Amino acid sequence: MADETGSAGATGSARANGKVILLGEHAVVYGVPALAAGIDRGARASASAAPQPELVIDGRPAEGPEVWQAFTALSNELAAPTLRVTADLEVPPGSGLGASAALGVAIARAVLSAMGKPAPAESVLAAANAWERVFHGNPSGIDTTAAFYGSCFKFKRGHAPEFVELVAPLRLAVVKAGPPASTKTMVEGVAKLRERRPDLVDKTLEAIQSLVQNAALCLPAGDLVGLGKLMDYNQMLLSGLFLSTPEIERACGIARERGALGAKLTGAGGGGSVIAIAEDPEAIVAAWQEAGLTAFVASCAGVADEDNP
Ligand code: MEV
Repeated sequence: MADETGSAGATGSARANGKVILLGEHAVVYGVPALAAGIDRGARASASAAPQPELVIDGRPAEGPEVWQAFTALSNELAAPTLRVTADLEVPPGSGLGASAALGVAIARAVLSAMGKPAPAESVLAAANAWERVFHGNPSGIDTTAAFYGSCFKFKRGHAPEFVELVAPLRLAVVKAGPPASTKTMVEGVAKLRERRPDLVDKTLEAIQSLVQNAALCLPAGDLVGLGKLMDYNQMLLSGLFLSTPEIERACGIARERGALGAKLTGAGGGGSVIAIAEDPEAIVAAWQEAGLTAFVASCAGVADEDNP
């Protein structure tokens, strides 16, 4: 007999990518394009019919009103029946690596799969963005887009992503540079600064826009030196918006000393992660590890991932 999911005991399983923002975080909230890459670590989820809604993340029942509000928003968007969902993260939460968006996309895909339905971008992103809005207030949608497609792309709020062709998979050194920061708080901080100093913030947004445009030319040309310089400039501009921290600056400094072509915070800042571009990302990871930091190499295949491998 078919259960509420439409098929007997159907279980849906799926995954989604984490992300790094190469250039343009925060500016993207104000309609400036940004460059992002979905990475090979993200989240996995499974969903199956259950008498009561259940959500288990990293082996623990989800706690707190926010995560349940987000789960309800996602389920309502998909008109989902009552389900038990388990999900596991492959990137640390609150680290600027798109953990919550990866969860939202993986869960939405798993729920649709358990319902026996296809999981096109439109439905999955609508559900994952409903989930994200609970945590982030005013998300641009860049994180969920990266979580869905993987790949490397230029993103402008409210528009379809423009995929960027890569000459080779992009390999980045990634380090945890401080405790998790709340994206919502960091985004609100920039909004408050813009209220007080619109001249300063708008000039910074314009400058970031130029960097993003140039970086979008570097990627298909395989110009990592150019990309690195632009990332360094972006880091300076983000510091000017009070988004950097001493730990972030230290991690950038260690990377540059060990030969990185560029280094910057990625995501919301205020903590979280630093990324570095280098000919030899393993050497940068080793330098960070020698300094007692947690680091790894992430890669972006450069192929859009619509089919949910
Ligand atoms: C967070 O990963 C990126 C921000 O630009 C916020 C957003 O785009 O929603 C800080």
